[in-house]
Amino acid sequence: MPRAAGLGRAAALGPLLAAHVVAAIEPISVGIALGAASALTGYLSYTDLYCRFAECCREEQRLNASALKLELEEKLFGQHLATEVILKALTGFKNNKNPKKPLTLSLHGWAGTGKNFVSQIVAENLHSKGLKSNFVHLFVSTLHFPHEQHIKLYQDQLQGWIRGNVSACASSVFIFDEMDKLHPGVIDAIKPFLDYYEQVDGVSYRKAIFMFLSNAGGDLITKTALDFWRAGRKREDIQLKDLEPVLSVGVFNNKHSGLWRSGLIDRNLIDYFIPFLPLEYRHVKMCVRAEMRARGSAVDEDIVTRVAEEMTFFPKGEKIYSDKGCKTVQSRLDFH
Ligand SMILES: Nc1ncnc2c1ncn2[C@@H]1O[C@H](COP(=O)(O)OP(=O)(O)OP(=O)(O)O)[C@@H](O)[C@H]1O
Ligand SMILES: [Mg+2]
Repeated sequence: MPRAAGLGRAAALGPLLAAHVVAAIEPISVGIALGAASALTGYLSYTDLYCRFAECCREEQRLNASALKLELEEKLFGQHLATEVILKALTGFKNNKNPKKPLTLSLHGWAGTGKNFVSQIVAENLHSKGLKSNFVHLFVSTLHFPHEQHIKLYQDQLQGWIRGNVSACASSVFIFDEMDKLHPGVIDAIKPFLDYYEQVDGVSYRKAIFMFLSNAGGDLITKTALDFWRAGRKREDIQLKDLEPVLSVGVFNNKHSGLWRSGLIDRNLIDYFIPFLPLEYRHVKMCVRAEMRARGSAVDEDIVTRVAEEMTFFPKGEKIYSDKGCKTVQSRLDFH
């Protein structure tokens, strides 16, 4: 991972990184030059000018909700629930000047349905450099927390890392990918940070955002989607209330969810469980078209159909949902 790559090295990395980030915002020579420039122009404040050249953590920066809405509606296919909940959650949280706790979102769903894709869009809308930002941190279970025997070490490192980064930037974003492969208990180390405390050891975590991504609960989501389909009901009629309670209970009781019997759930510290529905043939086609456009090619419907037909669909009889979602679309398109 990006900046969390050093996580395995030492718990002391957190404070080190914090120092690095703060230093990056205050180099003296650039400071003097910018101070002079801002005094001369008289228009831009020192901070405004500085932040044109370096990445700054702007805690109070408002979210452009309409831009996020447009982006999700244009780019994210077949996920009416995720679009709705993410917009609602982020707008509410960023409009609140005094949140009582950090925002915690748990994204669940079948492979290739858009969880990482959405987390990238969200990150870019919060910090313009997205996943490359110094204030966005991605943890991948199999990469950063691989060994069961080191759980205690991971817990300490995680705490140090998060403390250091939130001290440097209160609106830091932390994304935990592959939660279902995380050893039970690791995540509970960050429970104090997610709770309703004003401060923990002098640091306030209330403006941070935590996103957890996992396949856990994908089977429950698929079952609900299939029930709707078999009953002749529209996919878009599936409501959050049809899924959210099933998800939170299912994930809590699932030994391989990363949140098994987790204090985060029984203390109600997860604000939203966000279901990603399995993608259908028509959505796969939409992904192929989007990928062609992104490559600057004209959309060729013959190729769109061919790529979509190469994908495999389940359940066996009806063959409605793509078993890899849109995940292999990019590589398959290379062959056409
Ligand atoms: N709902 C969607 N709308 C548009 N594009 C999508 C969607 N789902 C997936 N894609 C495309 O497929 C790629 C892979 O999806 P992504 O990595 O987000 O899947 P995931 O849900 O994280 O899967 P996994 O559980 O296997 O990690 C994305 O980068 C994006 O290009
Ligand atoms: Mg993923």
